[in-house]
Amino acid sequence: MSRIAYVNGQYVRQSDAMVNVEDRGYQFADGVYEVIAVHGGKLVDAEPHYDRLARSLDGLRIAAPCSRRALGLILARIVRRNRVRNGFVYLQVTRGVAPRNHSFPARDTRPSLVITASHRGPPSDAQVERGARVITVPESRWARPDLKTVSLLPNVLAKQQALDAGAYEAWFVDSDGHVTEGSSTNAWIVVDGQEIVTRPLGQDILAGITRQTLIEVARANNMRVTERVFTVAEAKRAKEAFLTSTTSFVMPIVSIDGAPVGEGGPGRVTLRLLDAYRRHLNQDAAP
Ligand code: PDD
Repeated sequence: MSRIAYVNGQYVRQSDAMVNVEDRGYQFADGVYEVIAVHGGKLVDAEPHYDRLARSLDGLRIAAPCSRRALGLILARIVRRNRVRNGFVYLQVTRGVAPRNHSFPARDTRPSLVITASHRGPPSDAQVERGARVITVPESRWARPDLKTVSLLPNVLAKQQALDAGAYEAWFVDSDGHVTEGSSTNAWIVVDGQEIVTRPLGQDILAGITRQTLIEVARANNMRVTERVFTVAEAKRAKEAFLTSTTSFVMPIVSIDGAPVGEGGPGRVTLRLLDAYRRHLNQDAAP
């Protein structure tokens, strides 16, 4: 079955889908995106993703390409037409097509909206058991990683550096020695066997939807979550560490810069959180 993409009002075979070479996303990375999980054919945590999309668009002063309701209908149709049970939708909004010029184009330039879908199950039990190795790299992104822009070059380079080192993820470290987040995931540690720690929201990290959901799920399960900064040294001393994202769910971290975390395998608290997160997925996938 060929994949179907949505491109500026039309549903087309993905292999035939095209955008204009003067799309500002292509020339300036002048756009934003979201990745939303599909579980059992339904979007997971759709509303918070729409809220974050609105914040990213506002931050870049790009108009919404359509209403939230229309976006929901298009996404549902893309999920249906691609027969996705478990997977992801990717949606990207750019400032639109205009002759190349750094300043914003004429007011009547319409934002471009592109949506694709993919089939991919959650990380398998074997992947979770193996866990993720993480390396640390100096923070090299612009000052607003809270905006989910398609301008991801530092993230791309950091992720490749991790892969080249035999790791799964790179953690960015700010000039104070604090971990900000991963190249495409939020960063967490578990200290004293029970306190779950993640960096507070601010302009320096993305407000991960999985992060927020997990905080709520953890608290609902009487687990203690503290939003505070932590250093690489503290992470290396921690009993457990893990990362979260829409695509990685809750993934145990087994080593940081080659040093084992805890016993060097998935931690007890992390696995409990993953279990609680999976239950949330089963309950909360939106129609
Ligand atoms: N990445 N931090 C960064 C820099 C990210 O790119 C992401 C998501 C996250 C986690 O956010 P969420 O829980 O909402 O997925 C944190 C997506 C999945 C991506 O770029 O593919």
